[in-house]
Amino acid sequence: MPDYSFDTILVDVEGGVATLTFNRPAKRNAMSPQLHRDVATALERLRYDPAAKVIVLTGAGKAFCAGMDLKEFFTELKDDPAEYDRIFRLATEWRGRTLRYFPKPTIAMINGFCFGGAFSIVEGCDLAVAADDAIFGLSEVNFGLFPGGAVSKSLANIMRPRDAMLYALTGRPFDGKRAAEIGFINYSVPAATLQDDVRALAAELAQKNGEAMTATKEGYRHSLDMTWEASMAYTQAREGLLSKNQNDAFRTTGIGDFLKGQYRPGLESNSNLS
Ligand code: ACO
Repeated sequence: MPDYSFDTILVDVEGGVATLTFNRPAKRNAMSPQLHRDVATALERLRYDPAAKVIVLTGAGKAFCAGMDLKEFFTELKDDPAEYDRIFRLATEWRGRTLRYFPKPTIAMINGFCFGGAFSIVEGCDLAVAADDAIFGLSEVNFGLFPGGAVSKSLANIMRPRDAMLYALTGRPFDGKRAAEIGFINYSVPAATLQDDVRALAAELAQKNGEAMTATKEGYRHSLDMTWEASMAYTQAREGLLSKNQNDAFRTTGIGDFLKGQYRPGLESNSNLS
């Protein structure tokens, strides 16, 4: 098993599901330079860990993540431009690119406060479920900044234009129910059932074929930036890669078991595939 001991996060892998917990509850899980280093390293190890089929990201205590660490990043690195740039790059890379194109499905489980830079974690994940009473906010404007780093692009990617402008210009907080209404997350549930709900969702994904889920993510995400022609060429080629990587299981077992009358893929998953 890879080494999953870190200073600022906890990583637990069980039943095909890896849970990565931001673990600075006294600082509301603000993203310090060390937290960025730890998450980037953990994601690299989880990428190649066959025991981790699905990744859940969440926070310890009453916060999911209070955004960038306003002290350890913005203030203490102010006079160290090289280190500031290094951490800025690391911070934007794992949220903006690594998570987005991660080969395994990712779920943000938003248990509490979620501010500023944490929006890019939520947006970078494939799915997001929050507690009804979690508090979201683009607080940058409240202290004279703007949604910089990966955040402006995250807003452009996932929020409706009117919502992005309203919440970025006012800095008004909103709750998990509102986050679901505006489509920033999939849905919200009472805080008391959040863990069970997300555990069930993650377990459902963990039973699916890993190659099929990777191709699903790539097909969707890459197609966003492609012309129709390019996307058709890409998905045709991707189908060949999928077939090679899974030894043509989608035909032999997936379609094969259906044709033998063993299950109905419209209504259920073939567990022999995973
Ligand atoms: N960076 C650094 N430290 C933080 C951050 C942060 N983003 N958020 C909270 N903390 C620290 C506080 O300084 C405090 O530390 P201390 O105990 O050593 O004094 C501790 O966490 C607890 O904070 P409180 O404000 O006492 O906690 P409370 O639960 O009352 O409020 C809240 C939590 C709402 C998250 C509040 O701390 C807050 O507004 N934080 C700033 C949120 C924010 O604007 N983040 C930046 C977004 S912009 C960006 O990411 C670029």
